[in-house]
Amino acid sequence: SYNGLNLVPQMGWNNWNAFQCDVDESLLLDTAQKMIDFGLRDLGYNHIVLDDCWSIDRNESGYLVSDPIKFPSGMKAIADRLHQLGFRFGMYSSAGIFTCARYPGSLGHEQKDADLWASWGVDYLKYDNCFNQGQSGTPKLSFDRYKVMSDALNSTGHPMVYSMCNWGNDDPYDWAYTIANSGRMSGDIYDSFNRPDARCPCTEAIGCSWPGFHCSVMNILNKMAPIAPRTMSGYFNDMDMLEVGNGGQSDSEYVVHFSMWAIHSSPMLIGTNVGTLSPANLAIYSNPAILAINQDPSAGGASRKWRYFVDPDETGEGEISLWTRGLKNGDRIVALLNAANSTMMMNASMNEIFFDQRTAGAYREPEELRQTWDIYDLWANRMSEEEAASIINGNATTRGNHTTRFNATATS
Ligand code: DGJ
Repeated sequence: SYNGLNLVPQMGWNNWNAFQCDVDESLLLDTAQKMIDFGLRDLGYNHIVLDDCWSIDRNESGYLVSDPIKFPSGMKAIADRLHQLGFRFGMYSSAGIFTCARYPGSLGHEQKDADLWASWGVDYLKYDNCFNQGQSGTPKLSFDRYKVMSDALNSTGHPMVYSMCNWGNDDPYDWAYTIANSGRMSGDIYDSFNRPDARCPCTEAIGCSWPGFHCSVMNILNKMAPIAPRTMSGYFNDMDMLEVGNGGQSDSEYVVHFSMWAIHSSPMLIGTNVGTLSPANLAIYSNPAILAINQDPSAGGASRKWRYFVDPDETGEGEISLWTRGLKNGDRIVALLNAANSTMMMNASMNEIFFDQRTAGAYREPEELRQTWDIYDLWANRMSEEEAASIINGNATTRGNHTTRFNATATS
């Protein structure tokens, strides 16, 4: 990690997916309290991140001014309160003259803004890409622009996680690990599992601009396949905020979304209204086995071993695929993904599970293939809806022990 921070992916909550600009201090503080009550903070969701639309102006000395109607207590007081509640506070700006929603941006004001955030006790910056004055289009232009803020944050001496949001433009996975702690790799997610949308994935050729992204879960997942190896401790490919809870997908689609973000070591930022979370969706966010994969110190991505189109149109609508990943303790994660419209029979051979493209040259009948392996279904024992409902209603006395359930044994 370039600054010693974010050795495993950041977790928390961000208001954008569910609220966009409709955000104020009570939303931040009420959400924090709900996350404590629901056990989410203690599962590791420990950042509250305020997105766009908070900075209304600059004062005569050039410092950003927060909206006094939305945030009457001021940002320092909000940060202090969140710290008391056991959270870290994230804020937002853009590496441009405006933010995407046309509030003041930080381009040319980097040091003043970083100093201000540090003085408020801010722990985290999400840094967007709108109104960048054309300083984009080559890796060097993007790197230089994002590095100015990286240096400004560092020079404050106050540790702040730096979450870059340039939508995968100019291949940040090639260069951003030297200046940032995570980097978005796609256009904006929307709450759809696989509805094909020509506007996503944005490519280097057409460039990304905002607004107008509509990346489905399958769009983003498949964009990860070739770049997954370029995620590492301290710099994570950010697949964008989670949509679980926003109503556009089925329970099993949200399980896929949550699982695949986790095994790719994506940041895990809840992107829904925690106050109206359903029991079924709380049970997804609360799966400790999936979160443990995400927070594993190996900090890697998964490899896609095969992909097969059940429907012929290659939109991601009708495909099945096998993804695997190794964990630090030697366990292997196996994800058999069925994005087709029907029940599918899928096989994963021991060879596929253990063969790793990155070490293909060194592949010599690994010991693993000769061992006997226990298999666990990490979703088999998820929190019941009854238990989740009692947590939401505030009358749960204890929480169940949702360890994974033994299922089967495999040998070569
Ligand atoms: C574009 C980003 O990609 C989104 O995540 C969000 O921060 C919006 N901008 C805010 O305007």
